Amino acid sequence: LGGLGAPGAGRIAVRRGTRADLDALVALWLALTRYHVHFESLFMLRPGAEAEVRRLIEAQLRDPETLVLLHAPASGPDGLCLVRVDRAPPIHPEVVRAEITDLYVADASRRRGVGRALAEAALGWVGARGIARVEVRVAARNRDGHAFWQALGFEPFVDVLHRRL
Ligand SMILES: CC(C)(COP(=O)(O)OP(=O)(O)OC[C@H]1O[C@@H](n2cnc3c(N)ncnc32)[C@H](O)[C@@H]1OP(=O)(O)O)[C@@H](O)C(=O)NCCC(=O)NCCS
Repeated sequence: LGGLGAPGAGRIAVRRGTRADLDALVALWLALTRYHVHFESLFMLRPGAEAEVRRLIEAQLRDPETLVLLHAPASGPDGLCLVRVDRAPPIHPEVVRAEITDLYVADASRRRGVGRALAEAALGWVGARGIARVEVRVAARNRDGHAFWQALGFEPFVDVLHRRL
């Protein structure tokens, strides 16, 4: 993890998730998605979504261009972060970037630096690959999410607009 988040590097240790963590990873991912239903019903889960989520996370664990991070203290896993490399055709000077696709810290563990530790470990992994830019999509109504990313130095980039027909 490029030193970031490693035990001893800071107060909060995060680590790679493994197949042995699959139940916890799925539970945290589902909690993140359910949290977003407060903002937007598009995030609702279909019946049976859990099996699909499990398959997706298993694939991400196998993907060398995706990093699955977990905060798992003795009290139990309470934080998840997924980041992946994203490639574009050679049109613009930048052909590779990263995207933090998911970040979740359980309610009871918030505002203690867990989110920051997970995000910084993700950024360390990205930086160690020589990738200079990372994106994150944040629901427009997710005020806490926006405040968090702003505190970490992220700036507005593209607004995604949508319209129902
Ligand atoms: C966003 C989230 C991951 C932050 O995790 P966290 O562990 O609470 O964050 P940290 O404690 O590391 O916070 C780091 C800094 O971000 C800012 N911040 C975090 N949460 C904030 C909030 N609710 N309001 C304002 N600023 C906030 C603060 O500057 C904070 O530093 P401080 O506590 O010293 O003031 C967590 O609130 C969460 O999981 N929310 C639900 C899911 C979500 O929105 N995920 C992001 C989607 S893109």
